[in-house]
Amino acid sequence: MKLFLDTANINEIKQANDLGLLDGVTTNPSLIAKEMKNGGSFREIVTKILNETLGPVSIEVIAEDYDNMVKQALKIRELGKNAVVKVPFNSVGLKVTNALSDKGIPVNSTLIFNGIQALFAAKAGASYVSPFVGRLDDIAEDGMALIEQIKTIYTNYDLKTNILVASIRSPLHVLRSMILGADVVTLPFDVLSKLPAHPKTSEGLSRFLDDWKKAFGSMDFPL
Ligand code: G3P
Repeated sequence: MKLFLDTANINEIKQANDLGLLDGVTTNPSLIAKEMKNGGSFREIVTKILNETLGPVSIEVIAEDYDNMVKQALKIRELGKNAVVKVPFNSVGLKVTNALSDKGIPVNSTLIFNGIQALFAAKAGASYVSPFVGRLDDIAEDGMALIEQIKTIYTNYDLKTNILVASIRSPLHVLRSMILGADVVTLPFDVLSKLPAHPKTSEGLSRFLDDWKKAFGSMDFPL
């Protein structure tokens, strides 16, 4: 399973890269707008992210009509070979997804909230679908049940679109995505930071080192 970071913040991307855990990045208009407030143009921010990331980076179009969505998609693709165009799922988005896929441009079909949308996005040739699990949990629906549903649908019809679990809020979402066989999880930096920690690991390490110090009175390494 691939680990993507859901951010437009270059420092977070650098830190994830240092951990050796970064397979890709996803952004959305809210995340990029937040970074632009701190300075930098859309082009500067996106170019930095594309250069810092070896894997795919999803950048979303903001137009709502077909012609402008395609124009924006082509401009996004010009910024880097690893740019994936994020297209919101609706009837216009579906048409755009078809057109971009026909040109060999990878599409991340976003704002997916049911299995039918996921099937249609795959039929339109999307490389990724982004079901938003946290936002379903927010309205007392089971976000992870949607991942299970999409996995079943894609297996039934041998669809190759990658299931990219988005709107992740906790390590449990990540664990359940792994168990269900999702292809990618995209994580806010705070969730990524929580993943390696386990209280029993910290406790175990302290005990080993305390025992050593008690026995030898120092932490000098004997080799
Ligand atoms: O990037 C799309 C998605 O991950 C947004 O998450 O937390 O705003 O629902 P959230």
